[in-house]
Amino acid sequence: MVNTRVNLSGLPLDNPVIPASGTFGFGYEFAELYDINVLGSIALKGTTREPRFGNPLPRIAECSDGLINSVGLQNPGVNAVIDEELPKLARVFHKPAIANISGFSIEDYAYCAERLDADDRVGLLEINVSCPNVHNGGMSFGTDPASAAAVTRAVKAVTKKPVYMKLTPNVTDIAAIAKACEDAGADGISLINTLLGMRIDLKKRAPVIANKMGGFSGRAILPVALRMVWQVYEAVDIPIIGMGGVASAEDVIEMLLAGATAVQVGAENLVNPWACPRIIAALPDAMAKYGIDKLEDIIGGAH
Ligand code: SIN
Repeated sequence: MVNTRVNLSGLPLDNPVIPASGTFGFGYEFAELYDINVLGSIALKGTTREPRFGNPLPRIAECSDGLINSVGLQNPGVNAVIDEELPKLARVFHKPAIANISGFSIEDYAYCAERLDADDRVGLLEINVSCPNVHNGGMSFGTDPASAAAVTRAVKAVTKKPVYMKLTPNVTDIAAIAKACEDAGADGISLINTLLGMRIDLKKRAPVIANKMGGFSGRAILPVALRMVWQVYEAVDIPIIGMGGVASAEDVIEMLLAGATAVQVGAENLVNPWACPRIIAALPDAMAKYGIDKLEDIIGGAH
């Protein structure tokens, strides 16, 4: 029997497949479709200090092999996540979840991290310095090594949970940002968030998305994500959660060979809500096909 277990900084996962933040709500919504305990873990919708309604509509533009979103971090705020969303999730999911935190200031990140640090239902903090859909926050922290390091340090100072910095691909040197986070104490790196993109409505002669631009994700971005996971693996000695265009068990194996320890599935959940259990069920056969007994053995195996 093949071994699909992996470990993220002391957090053991039965398998490396995790639905990505923003594509899976707070998780419990999917329990109506299947037993979500088959998942390695769940990355929750990005949480901010205050509740947010998000960006004006339309927020979505379809593309071939992907989509552009400009949701704008819609969420009920960290206190409601702790008091309302996490209890609902705990009723149907019996593993630690991954809380995803966004902010508009370093203090915002630290506030949310401190609140979530006290919650046993959260096993790992994913710090989103990469949202392309808000001004004066999000991605602006993740495009400069010093700013990404400052957020890392502030969060590490208030939590004992593993801290994974979620990076944007909209930079020229992803390795430099990842290294700055590692040097500031990050326990791991998550990448990639979405690529900044846009579509034009031909009839209106105007951008499809109200916010004009948004984040492009989906199967089309897998090669970009693999390239960046590869580069970050070469630059740091901390674990990587790889994401971007993953849609099959073979994609998961490719991500691990590039250097990821675990993998998030994002846009594919919007195409097929059963994508994650389908990928998990297909993993043993795909491993057997490529002569893999233990997934942990192949992490970074293509280097
Ligand atoms: C959003 O809510 O705008 C998407 C989150 C992200 O891309 O980080």
